[in-house]
Amino acid sequence: MARVVPATKQAIEEAAAALRRGELVAFPTETVYGLGADARDPQAVRRIYELKGRPRGHPLIVHLPSPEALGSWAKPHATATALAERFWPGPLTLVLHRADSVPDAVTGGQPTVALRMPRHPVASALLQAFGEGVAAPSANRFGRISPTSAAHVAAEFAGDLLVLDGGPTEVGLESTILDLSGPADQDPVRLLRPGGVPLAEIEEFLGRRVQLPHEFAGPVPRVSGSLTSHYAARAPTELVAPHELVARARAAGGAVAVLALQPRPEAFAGSWLTLRAEPVAYGRHLYAALRQLDAAAPDLILVEEVPAEPAWLAVRDRLARATAG
Ligand code: TXA
Ligand code: MG
Repeated sequence: MARVVPATKQAIEEAAAALRRGELVAFPTETVYGLGADARDPQAVRRIYELKGRPRGHPLIVHLPSPEALGSWAKPHATATALAERFWPGPLTLVLHRADSVPDAVTGGQPTVALRMPRHPVASALLQAFGEGVAAPSANRFGRISPTSAAHVAAEFAGDLLVLDGGPTEVGLESTILDLSGPADQDPVRLLRPGGVPLAEIEEFLGRRVQLPHEFAGPVPRVSGSLTSHYAARAPTELVAPHELVARARAAGGAVAVLALQPRPEAFAGSWLTLRAEPVAYGRHLYAALRQLDAAAPDLILVEEVPAEPAWLAVRDRLARATAG
């Protein structure tokens, strides 16, 4: 059974010691909970893949205790250093050419490595206590909804696992991933995954546009979150236009569950959750809401479409994957 403990100073020390022994530890970040291992220990990293049921080729993000640690994991890169200074600690992951010492187990054998420094106080304290990089994917079984609470993590894994409980996560969606590994003379900045840091903030800081996936020239790096079906509930899940939602829900009958922006209609029999129509609050609650609706084992989950506006980019990305079947 997973062992969920409040993230006290003592529990964090215990978790750092477990990492040193090559064991896995689940911990909160500001985005979602992570399943961590010593990133320098290939055997420990392999345990992550086994426990998650994640295919081997999918690289992991290395979580760093400080911006300075960037230099021991990646080749020097001026734009990366500037982005790290501005956005770390925080929900931004940078994909860079890896330093020679980075184990293949972390990168899936690719020439690049993904790095981020989280800002959650428990993640920071754990990384400080451990003192080294921690490889950590989201602490869910492969393809499932990412966990935003310690209870979600405990529900994912049957085995013996220490879970540091730091309460519900603040951002609720995974980090924004930027690929900076393109040709040095062009210094391209490419978006691999929208997430916790809004694209507009990055573009404002850089003073130029970030390339979106359909604008990439040349080979596109592998991102497991970019598999079409991902972050999925067990029940079939569909996106529905706002004006069709009530009719579709009524037609589907009793065993339907609805995630909406509009309020529950009169005399509706199924489950209906309404989230606030504001992208930050919606993102914070999305995964917990999907889990809650899925837990009642409905025949169908209907999700009301959210606005097609830039501020909703990360939410729209996750909804598209959750409903890709
Ligand atoms: O917010 C987050 O990023 C959370 C927390 C725990 O930090 N982590 C997370 O990890 O979402 P995971 O493994 O669920 O997603 C990591 C993503 C995957 O889509 C993976 O393919 C991509 O990062 N990635 C990792 N290394 C990469 C690389 N070298 N090149 C391209 N993509 C990479
Ligand atoms: Mg994940």
